[in-house]
Amino acid sequence: MTEEIELTIDSVGVRGDGVARHDGKPVYVPFTAPGDRVLVRPSAVKGEMRGELVELLVPGERVEPRCAHFGTCGGCALQHLSDDAYVAAKLGWLRGALAQHGFKDIEIAPLRRLAPGTRRRARLALARNGETVAGFHGRMSHAIVDLRECHVLHPALVALVVPLRVLAAEILPRRGTAAASLTLGDAGVDVVLALLKVPDLAALEALAHFAAAHDLARLSWSADHAFAPVAQRRPVRAVFAGVAVDLPPDVFLQASGEADAVLSDFVLDAIDTPRRIADLYAGVGTFSFALASRAPVHAVEGDAEAAKALRDAAARVNRADRVTVERRDLTRRPMSVAEFARFDAVVFDPPRTGALAQSRALAASAVPRVVAVSCNPATFARDARILVDGGYTLAHVAPVDSFIWSPHLELVARFERR
Ligand SMILES: C[S@@+](CC[C@H](N)C(=O)[O-])C[C@H]1O[C@@H](n2cnc3c(N)ncnc32)[C@H](O)[C@@H]1O
Repeated sequence: MTEEIELTIDSVGVRGDGVARHDGKPVYVPFTAPGDRVLVRPSAVKGEMRGELVELLVPGERVEPRCAHFGTCGGCALQHLSDDAYVAAKLGWLRGALAQHGFKDIEIAPLRRLAPGTRRRARLALARNGETVAGFHGRMSHAIVDLRECHVLHPALVALVVPLRVLAAEILPRRGTAAASLTLGDAGVDVVLALLKVPDLAALEALAHFAAAHDLARLSWSADHAFAPVAQRRPVRAVFAGVAVDLPPDVFLQASGEADAVLSDFVLDAIDTPRRIADLYAGVGTFSFALASRAPVHAVEGDAEAAKALRDAAARVNRADRVTVERRDLTRRPMSVAEFARFDAVVFDPPRTGALAQSRALAASAVPRVVAVSCNPATFARDARILVDGGYTLAHVAPVDSFIWSPHLELVARFERR
């Protein structure tokens, strides 16, 4: 049996685990807070030391977590931190990521906080194995935590968890699993059920009944490379800068409507008054229509359905000349230096993996103003280094707590070339 050891947690790592030092090496202890004196059972996992919490001997900078599932559910990692420790952890990750790429004295704005209970997208796991369960996966585990409460999701999504559990009991075979992607649009919830096999007639009837009983805006299923809507009761839309966009099923959206507004404001503040803007990784136009109030926008997006939704929305409000849309894979075919010559401002908001290829081309361009939006400080800092090595100055970084209690952080950054 491994010997238990006593440790003092001194910081919070990027996955949300408390970090202590033992024999000069970091030991990661989930669900601990800075200042905690803990008894842990250490083990080596994939070359790093982890500690399973045996006993909290002396509490540090912690508070009582709000949620009964905290500690088992993989959704939240930081609910137990005091407010000061929470903010310090998130800003610490950002500073750490920047420092890794040689950025020492960058101006970082205070962490912009967003309200809990507002997340408008969720992917819930469903399983029927004896009991039927519906919820998030446990932390670093395939087990599903049967969700009874959630303080992150919007109440309209939480209200669907129990009905989804009942539906899963009805339509899933024994030992069957499924996933439900929920999106809260402006006129109700859109559900896509990912099933292991194409639903039979009885299951389709149950799905249609479910959509009506819970007043869903839309319900679809996917299985075996097939996809079909079951019910469309209202349009599934989001409104950006006054323009309604019809949302394709399960499309990317920022974490909440408040996140849309805060990020758009930060992007507008940073962009200044350009004459022509490229909006790269534009999605369904979260920033495109707001940016179009300043100058004509060329929006580039890799997902065909998102690009079409954005193009259709621009046409519907007669702004097809103000917001032009191009479907393009920016990893395989980044915008080139020659193409950038038409623009004096670029906004880019890539997925978590960042924008390596695109940043290299941008770094060689003469575009005077670049605004980056990112949900991953590590890939952001890597891409920022490429831009700065190409002659840009990283002028300002504004962190936004879109993903409350999770080990994720959103940010908006401004680059200038003089
Ligand atoms: C973080 S989202 C941002 C979307 C939008 N700016 C917003 O705020 O809603 C990243 C977007 O990049 C798109 N994307 C991912 N990989 C891409 C690629 N290689 N080329 C172009 N777009 C890509 C995704 O489809 C998604 O819409």
